[in-house]
Amino acid sequence: MSDATPTIILGLESTCDETGCAVVADGRDVLANVVATQFELHERFGGVVPEIASRAHVEAASTVLAEALAQAGVGPEGIAAVAVANRPGLIGSLLVGLMAAKTLAWVWRRPLIGVNHIHAHAYGPALDADPIAYPAVALIASGGHTSLYHCRAPTEVELLGATIDDAAGEAFDKVASILGLGYPGGPAIDSAAREGNPKAIEFPRPLLKGQSLDFSFSGLKTAVLYHVRGVPGAQREGARKSADHLGRQEIADVAASFQAAVVDTLRIKMRRAVRAVEARTIILGGGVAANSALRAATDKLGATLGVAVRMPAMTYCVDNAAMTAGLAYHLLRAGRTDDLQLAATATVRK
Ligand code: KG4
Ligand code: ZN
Repeated sequence: MSDATPTIILGLESTCDETGCAVVADGRDVLANVVATQFELHERFGGVVPEIASRAHVEAASTVLAEALAQAGVGPEGIAAVAVANRPGLIGSLLVGLMAAKTLAWVWRRPLIGVNHIHAHAYGPALDADPIAYPAVALIASGGHTSLYHCRAPTEVELLGATIDDAAGEAFDKVASILGLGYPGGPAIDSAAREGNPKAIEFPRPLLKGQSLDFSFSGLKTAVLYHVRGVPGAQREGARKSADHLGRQEIADVAASFQAAVVDTLRIKMRRAVRAVEARTIILGGGVAANSALRAATDKLGATLGVAVRMPAMTYCVDNAAMTAGLAYHLLRAGRTDDLQLAATATVRK
């Protein structure tokens, strides 16, 4: 490159329950990545409470911004553009980040770039790492989304399939709650499953028929619920209110069998997608990408199909603004900037 001056982008993330601000050079070098998590505020409710989330974003926004700029050692004059994840997410939460980004873009007189948060997840493995070899298939699975993409480039992303009901992480959280394992459920199921037999119970593998690349996890969750508590009305004494009657080993077996059903489903859809688009890379992202069985199954799939598997470092797996600023670099280069009319959109199927 003849131009040695890096293009530095400031990114903001507030789609759900993390307030993030990051400073990224040339879409790759993360100069700062600050995340204020709200985990403790929501924990006792067993899930994210939207109203609490929006307020916490307002409280954290200026602190994470100041911290990110200080860590990066960059002032406003060094920022080329302001990026914000403006879709999809909790509408109140999105609006906080969007208003902050618009304000900065206006005051600093810099371009504003709205970023699709799930597309940003698919860019996560490129941060502080080698570029991704395209075309790629990206599976982004978290508490809020389960989406499968065909990525021709960082900015050329086409949705192949998505959940039609619960997200994969949501299913983990709900099944953990059924089993009395606490919140968030993913890590709890993951660790309980290590002691269990994944073949103990044959739970359904939803939506595997035909060539569909969509997902559905709510039937699987119900199957676990009925297995643990009994089918309502089927037997008078059968319906129970908790999993208290199950021993440690039985809980581990249910956890392992449920996890195997989810991982199988995700693996089969990834395989279909890789074949359909002749992908060179599989990208895994979102909180569920932390799952040890999913990681192992994806590595094995990549080795079998002869394609690279890219998973982001843990810091870039969870919601963060570095992936937003990283992807925004490519949008900026493609001239895809926005004006101050940019809206927040809670749901997108893209
Ligand atoms: O991406 P994330 O941090 O937040 C959003 O939902 O956007 O994902 C959190 C989700 C939760 O549902 C959590 O249970 C799940 O990711 N998760 C896991 C694991 N770690 C986190 N699911 C399965 N296995 C894990 N080890
Ligand atoms: Zn996310």
